Amino acid sequence: MPITAPPAWRQLAVTTPGHRYEVLIGAGLLQDARAWAGLPHGRSAVIVSNPQVHALYGNTVAAALAPLRDQVSHVLLPDGEQHKNWDSLNHIFDHLLAHTCDRQTLLVALGGGVVGDITGFAAATYQRGVPFVQVPTTLLAQVDSSVGGKTAINHPRGKNMIGAFHQPERVLCDLQTLATLPLRELRAGLAEVIKYGPIADVALLDWLEATLPALLQGDTTALAHAVHRACQIKADVVGQDEREIGLRAILNFGHTFGHAIEAGMGYGHWLHGEAVACGMVLAADLSAELGLIDAAFTQRLARLIAAAGLPVHAPAMPLARWFELMQLDKKAAAGDIRFVVIGPPGQAALRSAPRDVVERVIRRHSPKAGQEPAAA
Ligand code: NAD
Ligand code: GLY
Repeated sequence: MPITAPPAWRQLAVTTPGHRYEVLIGAGLLQDARAWAGLPHGRSAVIVSNPQVHALYGNTVAAALAPLRDQVSHVLLPDGEQHKNWDSLNHIFDHLLAHTCDRQTLLVALGGGVVGDITGFAAATYQRGVPFVQVPTTLLAQVDSSVGGKTAINHPRGKNMIGAFHQPERVLCDLQTLATLPLRELRAGLAEVIKYGPIADVALLDWLEATLPALLQGDTTALAHAVHRACQIKADVVGQDEREIGLRAILNFGHTFGHAIEAGMGYGHWLHGEAVACGMVLAADLSAELGLIDAAFTQRLARLIAAAGLPVHAPAMPLARWFELMQLDKKAAAGDIRFVVIGPPGQAALRSAPRDVVERVIRRHSPKAGQEPAAA
């Protein structure tokens, strides 16, 4: 059934070979029946969240679902990246089985990327697949993780190592939910917005440089544009390469270094967006070392990242540990670590790099890797 979104909302479609769904972006859409209309029919819905987010928005979502389902129940997971694991996943399965949930049960992921990724994975695997809706409540989840159908949990040895591709039925980005987001989390989300500039849209970088103060103050008009443009770019990439055979890897700009930081520091210490922000500085520097961009572009990117209040210096970590962790990156092939590099700005590609060049980049940015850090 088509969605009749009011003009104040923005709307875009994600189309993959087996699926098509809408991303709705607007203020206050969670309590609006039009946002929920036309979802697949079923007897029950399960809202998956964490205590923090559920206390804020659980009742609103339950009220929206009540006219659509006979049974609406809630399952709460512990908050935090360190809980993106088997225990949380099993907690969802236990709940679904205890409530005799069937294949038409709708899972609703209410929260940030952690809740979204785990719920998506539960939806991909419970009874071999049930429908789910993403209700992202962090900026990071609205601009990235809720769109595109990547679902996963972490393994102690590596980020997002166990998961599946499973597209949601809809993504509801309510900009009002961002009003309660801690500033540190808002900044972390900006990292994934900034990411789309170097890989796909240099004009977005110009806009971000001009609009950063408004974004950091939570200006809804600015946030609406950021979420919409990010989702447009992501939908375009996912539409061309849902399963990351090639092109989709560009969305991982900064993530090879970033995932190593996240896992190396212990999940939950560096936020995902913070690790990606710093990883982008290293990935841009690597691109410059490979002669693909001017060093001036790395500096420009680092300036924007720093202005967003995000880290540009990598943590202290021995070189061997960096390589051990990067070897586990999902883009690695036959033991060869591969990086998303940019060049020219606005275009990205996946490639390997000589070990000595990568070492040089890490040494420049990570104290204790072997040398003093350079000013970014
Ligand atoms: P998160 O889910 O941990 O949320 C951050 C914090 O904000 C949590 O403490 C949460 O409880 C709190 N929170 C969420 N919404 C809130 C709100 N509206 N008000 C107040 N507090 C709120 O972190 P995240 O940054 O949203 O997501 C990071 C995760 O996303 C990582 O696990 C990462 O791997 C994953 N990710 C996945 C994809 C993908 O394509 N699937 C893409 C990017 C990132
Ligand atoms: N965030 C990377 C991707 O969705 O592919």
